[in-house]
Amino acid sequence: MFYIYNILWLQLVISAKSTLERANRTTCVPGFESKLLIFRVSREHLRPGMRLGRVDFTDCTDHTIFLFSTDDSRFGVKADGVLVVIVLHKGLENFFIHSWDSHGQRITVPVSVVHSEHHHGHNNGHECGKHHHEDHTNIQHRSTNVDSANHTEVVPVLQFPKSGRGLRRRKRAGWVIPPLNVPENQRGIYPLKVAQIRSNEDKTWRVFYSLTGPGADLPPAGRFIMDKQTGNLYVTQPLDREETAMYTFEAHAVAEGAGQDMDPMEIIVNVIDQNDNKPYFTTEYKADVAEATAIGTEVVRVEAKDDDEPDNLNSDLRYRILNQDPPLPTDHMFEINPITGTIRVTGKGLDREKYPQYTLTVQAADMAGEGRTGQTKVILTVTDSNDNAPVFTQKSYSSTVDENKKNVVVVKMIATDEDEPQTPAWNTKFKIVSGDSDGLFTLKTGTNKQEGILSTAKELDFERVSKHTLLVSVENEIPFACGVSVVTSTATVVVNVKDVNEAAVFDPKEKLVVKPEDLAVDEVIVQYSASDPDTARKQKVVYKIMNDPAGWLNVDKDTGLIKVRRLMDREAPFITNNRYIATIGAYDDDAVPATGTGTLIIQLEDVNDNVPVIKQHEIKMCNKDPAPQLLSVTDKDGPEFGPPYSVSLQDMSKTHWTARMNDSRTGIILNLATELHSGYYSVILRVADKHGLEQDSIIKAEVCDCRGEDVMCTQRVGFGWLLCAKLCALLRKGEQKEPTSKDNIFYYNRDQSREDDQVNGHQF
Ligand SMILES: *[C@@H]1O[C@H](CO)[C@@H](O)[C@H](O)[C@H]1NC(C)=O
Ligand SMILES: *[C@@H]1O[C@H](CO)[C@@H](O)[C@H](O)[C@H]1NC(C)=O
Ligand SMILES: *[C@@H]1O[C@H](CO)[C@@H](O)[C@H](O)[C@H]1NC(C)=O
Repeated sequence: MFYIYNILWLQLVISAKSTLERANRTTCVPGFESKLLIFRVSREHLRPGMRLGRVDFTDCTDHTIFLFSTDDSRFGVKADGVLVVIVLHKGLENFFIHSWDSHGQRITVPVSVVHSEHHHGHNNGHECGKHHHEDHTNIQHRSTNVDSANHTEVVPVLQFPKSGRGLRRRKRAGWVIPPLNVPENQRGIYPLKVAQIRSNEDKTWRVFYSLTGPGADLPPAGRFIMDKQTGNLYVTQPLDREETAMYTFEAHAVAEGAGQDMDPMEIIVNVIDQNDNKPYFTTEYKADVAEATAIGTEVVRVEAKDDDEPDNLNSDLRYRILNQDPPLPTDHMFEINPITGTIRVTGKGLDREKYPQYTLTVQAADMAGEGRTGQTKVILTVTDSNDNAPVFTQKSYSSTVDENKKNVVVVKMIATDEDEPQTPAWNTKFKIVSGDSDGLFTLKTGTNKQEGILSTAKELDFERVSKHTLLVSVENEIPFACGVSVVTSTATVVVNVKDVNEAAVFDPKEKLVVKPEDLAVDEVIVQYSASDPDTARKQKVVYKIMNDPAGWLNVDKDTGLIKVRRLMDREAPFITNNRYIATIGAYDDDAVPATGTGTLIIQLEDVNDNVPVIKQHEIKMCNKDPAPQLLSVTDKDGPEFGPPYSVSLQDMSKTHWTARMNDSRTGIILNLATELHSGYYSVILRVADKHGLEQDSIIKAEVCDCRGEDVMCTQRVGFGWLLCAKLCALLRKGEQKEPTSKDNIFYYNRDQSREDDQVNGHQF
């Protein structure tokens, strides 16, 4: 769209100053007639070409046309002062209009364009009343005819400033040449005249004009040319705003014979946009839209581009959906925001199972939807939402499981779902709703995600509950989509518990009794009985010893009464920490008997049934100044029946030996009382525990011919030791009879083999 008047706003016509003007100079002030111009419009949208009114200006001469410029390119002021809309826009606008007086002084006035529904009345009393009423929107079309003037005669005339040193000063004072506006893609016969340069000097001198700058003498050279004589500025070819939006030239004037050049004048040419570019999309669009998407939900946003001038009608785009494929279930499943390009769901009935994909053809059109167009495709894939519930294939299930079995599968249940397989909207999740308050069962999803597996979590007890009725439900891994009404499927599972033969159970499982170790044979230790949990069966329980390491126990087959079979002994090897452990079994008389076991722990109380014993059997010592020998005493009984011990020498040993307990009374200090000949001697020691339970022990003493602690036995004679066979026999029986004979003396080898040779000189 192009308006010829775009090039007409800038007019400066210089003519002879009138006498009238000169005469009235003192009273006239150049400028706009008001300090603020207000233009009222009755509609919000201002269309290009619309005339808003007239701007009155005087430079205190008789001129009626002036050079105007605006600082808002969407408005233009023609040379006759008519304010016109250039580009569509809306709403309140504030901007400035400038003009210049005959001295090149710039004068500025602020302007408001106000949208007002009620514009019928004259706005009396307003300082700018003239402007806001005189012209408004309803005269817009008049402009077209008025303005389509013969452009060969109506072009801007740019007046050269006065020559010489004054330029800078004048510039500073506000001498500004407004830019020229030349539309791009202009049709016509080139070169086209676009402006004229003039200098006042041409009345006195012959003036030559020229043009420099990119687009004139510099690349892209030759687009603009200037007639040397007339100062006419021509464009030589159609311009392209998208290539070059603005040209900046210097115009030069040389007065022949004037002696000095005039300062160059800057000329700016703005290339006015035309709608020579189509909108275009850089891509096709793909998006997913879930079946259950709520109406109004944004799906995707498209965006087109237009290379025409931004913020210009030529690039003002509007979007439309041209086509929806398939047009089902309605042809209006989606809508697009014409301004933003946002596509939203607008129709009901998105259904992946029926229409898995939509292809939209979207158009963008410039000129606010009226101009040139570009298209793209938007492919929308409908994705599954959880709009179908999984359903049990059976309403009820029933199964039988043995009692007392944990982690056994009770039943497998299948559920089906219409949603997309292997998605969370299809995968199932099973739940026990009721009937399992004791947590006896677990319900898990099978690996195929469509199977519920019910198992026992604990042992079931037939005798307690022989039949369980469970209510189970199935849902998906994700919740059902909002807005879909589906019912959660449930099923009933009846679990019958099968009775199995159970072993009798001892009570308690481990029984501890405390008994003296010397409990007599056939004495009762304890009754340890078991009961059979199979209450539904008539069964008899019989008892049996299952483990009795020392063979000390008897159990009554029918009653479970346990008695002593052989004397027990706290000091026996099977005892740890005074405890004897036995296992008792209880059998039922079922065809397949079940055995229960119980553990009987007998804690044995100590009895003084062991005499103290000397650890050492042999000693060796010198016959002169011998070192005393320390002999250890032990007693297998507990501390109750042990130390302090006492010791005494028996018989002949008293003559030659001394013996006493050490300080703790756990060791015997034995020494020689007299010097003996070297040889072997038997020393009889009687040791008693603290309760007086005593025993005689014989120590074999080798006495050597030496002195002190270092025992040196040189003689090789005297193997063996003297022993009265009778005495020995007596001692072995623990009797304390005096030996009656000392005739029969036996002789022992070092290797303990008995010899019958008699040895004299060896005495007790
Ligand atoms: C000066 O100009 C004004 C209007 O601008 C006019 O009314 C007045 O008569 C003029 N005076 C002379 C002396 O011409
Ligand atoms: C332009 O104006 C000239 C001179 O006034 C005239 O001869 C010519 O016909 C006009 N052209 C158009 C297109 O009006
Ligand atoms: C007494 O003798 C025994 C056995 O040799 C020993 O263990 C204990 O320490 C001795 N007591 C003292 C007080 O020497």
